[in-house]
Amino acid sequence: MSLLHFSGFLVFSLLLVSSAVLAETSVGEDPLIRQVVDGQDRSSSSNPNLLGDEYHHFSLFKRRFKKSYGSQEEHDYRFSVFRRNLRRAARHQMLDPTASHGVTQFSDLTPAEFKRQVLGLRRLRFPKDANKAPILPTNDLPEDFDWREKGAVTPVKNQGSCGSCWSFSTTGALEGANFLATGNLVSLSEQQLVDCDHECDPEEQGACDSGCNGGLMNSAFEYTLKAGGLMREEDYPYTGTDRGTCKFDKEKIAAKVANFSVVSLDEDQIAANLVKNGPLAVAINAVFMQTYVGGVSCPYICSKRLDHGVLLVGYGSAGYAPVRMKEKPYWIIKNSWGPNWGENGFYKICRGRNVCGVDSMVSTVAAVNINSN
Ligand SMILES: *[C@@H]1O[C@H](CO)[C@@H](O)[C@H](O)[C@H]1NC(C)=O
Repeated sequence: MSLLHFSGFLVFSLLLVSSAVLAETSVGEDPLIRQVVDGQDRSSSSNPNLLGDEYHHFSLFKRRFKKSYGSQEEHDYRFSVFRRNLRRAARHQMLDPTASHGVTQFSDLTPAEFKRQVLGLRRLRFPKDANKAPILPTNDLPEDFDWREKGAVTPVKNQGSCGSCWSFSTTGALEGANFLATGNLVSLSEQQLVDCDHECDPEEQGACDSGCNGGLMNSAFEYTLKAGGLMREEDYPYTGTDRGTCKFDKEKIAAKVANFSVVSLDEDQIAANLVKNGPLAVAINAVFMQTYVGGVSCPYICSKRLDHGVLLVGYGSAGYAPVRMKEKPYWIIKNSWGPNWGENGFYKICRGRNVCGVDSMVSTVAAVNINSN
């Protein structure tokens, strides 16, 4: 097959995939992705219709996500960013055909703004002194597994414009562990971590949990262990800023850390720890998540530079993969960008080759049964 034929085939397959995935993910009414993929080799300078289309999509975007801008300059600048992001979404679609990519609430942010405002993983290094989770048997693992079905996962939360992803990953893991220890699902306070946790890495000077400027789940578990525990979300609600003072009240502790440890890079060990200990705190490279709309993300190329903390809540054995004609297993990840992002706030990413670094930094936490003492 000549290269030309091949690329024709590729584009054709992409169109098939994106319409099929769209039909499945209930955003099929939005013709944008087809339009983006369709228009990828036309540039708006040579095609005034495309600019008109883009403006139309920008209007829909503003309405859908209730965006308003302070000045005409700001508005025009955001439109130019939005147009660049339409092209990025088309590129992501090509690199990641089993997911669908398009307009999200972050389509008017540059990649740098996205990183600063909605991620927040402090640093990438593996803690050298961390406890290692014991190796578990992996022969009896279920084919499919989902902690949401077992009541161990609270509704999707929203970190807002604050680099506090690490605090949501931490509370999510402790909420699950606390559910396993006590039988009760209690939503826990991220704001306590944002305001009160300044835990530092003993080996790296200046690397400390610092509110909206980032943090690390393992340090947050360490803080929680030392502080005595976390309060309930409703007793210490999220504000999305780190300008307040610490209002931690020891009398109102709702969940306590017993211990925490890092899980080996092996995917079966990750699955075994998930099934046995509850949802796991994991780090990931989030670059594809800015344009993710649904499906199983499995980019051909994705950096393993970790920049986002999320929660691994389950896995499936057979995702949707029409191009390769082979069903592939995936992880189910709870994010902290509200229920309107991704698949009702969740993300699916393929298992098998540490895509986007998803297997590189995984930790598990155990909770004290606070009802028994
Ligand atoms: C962690 O704590 C749990 C609950 O108290 C306990 O069952 C488990 O053995 C501990 N794990 C480690 C590695 O110490």
